[in-house]
Amino acid sequence: MAKTAAKTSVKSRTSSKKPDMPSINIGIPDAKRAAIAQGLSRLLAETYTLYLTTHNFHWNVTGKMFNTLHTMFMGQYTEMWNAVDPIAERIRALGFHAPGSYAAFSKLSTLKDAPATPPKAMEMVEILAKGHEAIARTAREIFPVIEDGDDLPSADLLTQRMDVHEKTAWMLRALLED
Ligand SMILES: [Fe+2]
Repeated sequence: MAKTAAKTSVKSRTSSKKPDMPSINIGIPDAKRAAIAQGLSRLLAETYTLYLTTHNFHWNVTGKMFNTLHTMFMGQYTEMWNAVDPIAERIRALGFHAPGSYAAFSKLSTLKDAPATPPKAMEMVEILAKGHEAIARTAREIFPVIEDGDDLPSADLLTQRMDVHEKTAWMLRALLED
């Protein structure tokens, strides 16, 4: 037993792989897996950022539309809160660490944090509509990388995210019309 353990230990020391990252072979070349994971990390960061902004607006919205918007924002932030988990876990299944800190998210996300002073209700709606459109654009931008790697589970996830963000953006834009 001791001999086997020693052999394994020497092998792991001489391997090019880090001991905490076992090799992975799911049929997607390493460079393509890395590019997909990078794209999904950006999607995760932007989804988390918009989740937090939406929750902020749920807390701070005021005015005649209070009840409608307070409730609507709750539905939207709950949806995004549930969405970050499958995105992060897809990154893990591809063999990479999922980012999960405000510092990492701020580097990855192109979305700004919520304004320090809560905006007027309809400005909130406009900020959120633009945020959902921005995430739909991000998802569309990383789609070719996913197609290039024949990564069907990531394509499925991304298709669902685009559908949600485009529908939510439409509903928010509809509120802005007279
Ligand atoms: Fe609440």
